[in-house]
Amino acid sequence: MQVADECRVFNMLDAVPLRETIDQVKPDLIVPEIEAIRTEVLLEVEQAGYRVIPSARAANLTMNRDRIRDVAVGLGVRTARFSYAESAAELLVRSHDIGFPVVIKPVMSSSGKGQSVARTAVDIEASWQFACQGMRGDRQKVIVEEFIDFQYEITLLTIRQHNGETLFCDPIGHVQERGDYQYSWQPQAMKAEHLNAAQEMARKVTTDLGGAGIFGVEFFVTRDEVIFSELSPRPHDTGMVTLISQNLSEFDLHARAVLGLPIPLIRSVEGASAVVLADKDGKNPRFEGVEAALSEPGVDVRLFGKPTTRPYRRMAVALAQGADALARARAAAAKIKVISE
Ligand SMILES: Nc1ncnc2c1ncn2[C@@H]1O[C@H](COP(=O)(O)OP(=O)(O)OP(=O)(O)O)[C@@H](O)[C@H]1O
Ligand SMILES: [Mg+2]
Repeated sequence: MQVADECRVFNMLDAVPLRETIDQVKPDLIVPEIEAIRTEVLLEVEQAGYRVIPSARAANLTMNRDRIRDVAVGLGVRTARFSYAESAAELLVRSHDIGFPVVIKPVMSSSGKGQSVARTAVDIEASWQFACQGMRGDRQKVIVEEFIDFQYEITLLTIRQHNGETLFCDPIGHVQERGDYQYSWQPQAMKAEHLNAAQEMARKVTTDLGGAGIFGVEFFVTRDEVIFSELSPRPHDTGMVTLISQNLSEFDLHARAVLGLPIPLIRSVEGASAVVLADKDGKNPRFEGVEAALSEPGVDVRLFGKPTTRPYRRMAVALAQGADALARARAAAAKIKVISE
């Protein structure tokens, strides 16, 4: 919105204004940037000849955790053991089947909203209530998963091209708190066999979803195996590190893939990103400490320009390149304070 020639604000979960807007604007490309869209409309307009990025099927299947999970299982991709539940009672039964601890998430939510870990049966009622509060959309349904005690987790940025093979960026390691990523780095060192397994799964799932564009494919890595978690059919928040670590960032790569432009080379150096969070509700935020953060060599900062703050809202990101990138990105982020009215 800050740079667009034109913008409209409406609820994209509502089919009527979504269809009206598409009819009026007649876009060459529809590039969904969030999950919460009435994707059935995208399926319809794609049928009518509009181009949806990467494909209407990808947007539709990834909007709901159960749909994309069922696709992954259908393709023989390794996931955590999981089940679905539509009531607290059913959730209790399913959790016992899987074995505690379990992770519970609404089938439709993002950024960790409504997500919790139930350690024993006593936690189930609270987890159900929490999931119901964090749900988006109209289905009271959760996914309950085996808790994976992973060594690390990664995002594998995967690029599908119109006229070319599927490409992979170096794996990005990240750490999550309260359902949001806090810092990420590239490359995450991996055993060759684990990297191959992740790439194979990413290729399988993205081939099934089709179209062209970048996907952020998330995996958990234990000592012995790689487990598929979920994916975004668009640039990924943990992938912001590529703004400093790669010759072409994830946004450049998405644009090139969407436009059918060549991607002859993806080169990366060691890099890291660390988020800058707000600490209270407010508006018209200002930033202090940006100068101090930028005084460090190899460090850069992006301020998102969001008009309001709330506790833990991500307002900016610090980026660092070179040796010790992670420590320097985190140190830079810590120097920046968000001041709001
Ligand atoms: N089965 C699991 N075992 C262990 N940790 C898990 C499990 N599922 C999720 N997590 C942790 O919670 C984080 C968020 O989960 P997930 O990616 O499924 O949710 P999300 O709300 O879609 O997040 P986002 O939209 O930010 O990607 C994961 O990155 C991981 O750290
Ligand atoms: Mg995720």
